[in-house]
This record gives sequence, C-alpha cells and structure tokens, in this order.
Amino acid sequence: MSAGLVIAVDGPAASGKGTIAAGLGAHYRLPVLDTGLLYRAVGVLMRRLDEDLDDAGLAGAAAARLTADQLRDPALRTRAAGELASRVAVHAKVRGALLDFQHAFAGQASGAVLDGRDIGTVIVPDAAAKLYVTATPEVRAKRRWTQLIAQGEAVTYDDVLADIRTRDARDGGRDTAPMRPADDAVLLDTTEMTIEQAADAARRIVEAARARWITTS
Ligand code: DC
Repeated sequence: MSAGLVIAVDGPAASGKGTIAAGLGAHYRLPVLDTGLLYRAVGVLMRRLDEDLDDAGLAGAAAARLTADQLRDPALRTRAAGELASRVAVHAKVRGALLDFQHAFAGQASGAVLDGRDIGTVIVPDAAAKLYVTATPEVRAKRRWTQLIAQGEAVTYDDVLADIRTRDARDGGRDTAPMRPADDAVLLDTTEMTIEQAADAARRIVEAARARWITTS
C-alpha cells in the first residue's frame, strides 16, 4: 500500500469516471491510470494476432506480456477496442495477469488515482477514497456517442446505447470481478450534472475522505 493518497474511481462504461479521475489527478497532483486501457490493449493485441478472444489461456498470456508504452496507442480509444476489452476482461487469467501492473501503480510513494470497474473492491480495497460514478444508460450513450463522433467514427446513438447495455450486462455478470460499488464507496450519480458539477462533487467526496485518512494515518 502506498504512503500517499490513493483514490479509486469505479463505474460503468461512459459514466464520466475517466474525466473525474483525470480532474482529481490534476487537482491533487497524482498520477492517473485508466485501467480500461489495460483490457483494451489485451483485446486489441489478441485481435491483431487473430487469436480467439474466448481462449482464456492465450488472452492471459497476452495480458502478461503487456507493457506501459502499449497503452499510448490511439487505437485503444475506439468503439471496437471497448468491445474487445469487455470480451477479454471476463477471463480470470487476464484479470490476474494485470494485477501486478495495477498494484505497482497504486503503490507509488506519491499516491495515485486509478479508474476502472474493480479498483475499490479488488485492486486497492484499502484506498483512502472510493467513488462509484453512475449515470443512466441513455445519458452515458449520449456522452460516448458524442466522443466517438468527435474522434471521426461513423456510429449511431442507437448502436452506442446497444453497446452500453451489452457491456453493462457482461461487465456486471462475471464471478471474478463483478461490477459493483465497494461497500465503503460513495455513489456519485452524474446523470443530471455537467462535467464541472461532477468534478466539484467528486472533489468534495475526496476531501471528506482525505480528512478522515489524514486523521487516521
Ligand atoms: O472503461 P473502459 O470502457 O475503457 O473499459 C473497457 C472494458 O474493460 C470494460 O467493458 C470492462 C473492462 N474493464 C474491467 O473489466 N475492469 C477494469 N478495471 C477496467 C475495465
């Protein structure tokens, strides 16, 4: 466990957790890891090698070979990469192979912000601050669709909403790391919020948790 402040930001696809995590990282001057990129990189690697995404052994081996510089590939930000990620993320071997990378990041002396699905429950259960960011599927689909259009992808809102529903079912349906809030996470529903309002609300939650963490550590 790091001696610094560790913040866990979990939530479903396109809930705004990435933007919130980046804002918290900038505010507290902490390094930020978008753990979705790890799963996206494994999925993209498997597809490039033309390997079967349902083969847990091959996917686990691809995850074990992952390096930090692979996370900078812009191809990881596409809709297709999100779908590939969600498919390989169901394998316990993949999740296990990605543990060390995430633990090392969270263990930095500076502290860290990590966003994902299972940060507060599995990766850093003793994080000082835990947020679980949600929004309705329709609002999440609208946000993701706007983002993908800006990236130049030809995709309809209805397709993105269908993706979100499929991914919610798959991400929340596995035994290894069910997508659920940690018991001690604070829920942040951003459905009716602007980015600024969500960022402010997240900072208030972390400030309260940080005050408790300073007193007890
Ligand atoms: O947050 P994202 O859209 O980049 O995540 C892509 C997929 O990766 C998501 O559908 C589920 C998986 N994932 C996961 O299982 N655990 C994480 N900590 C992060 C992502």
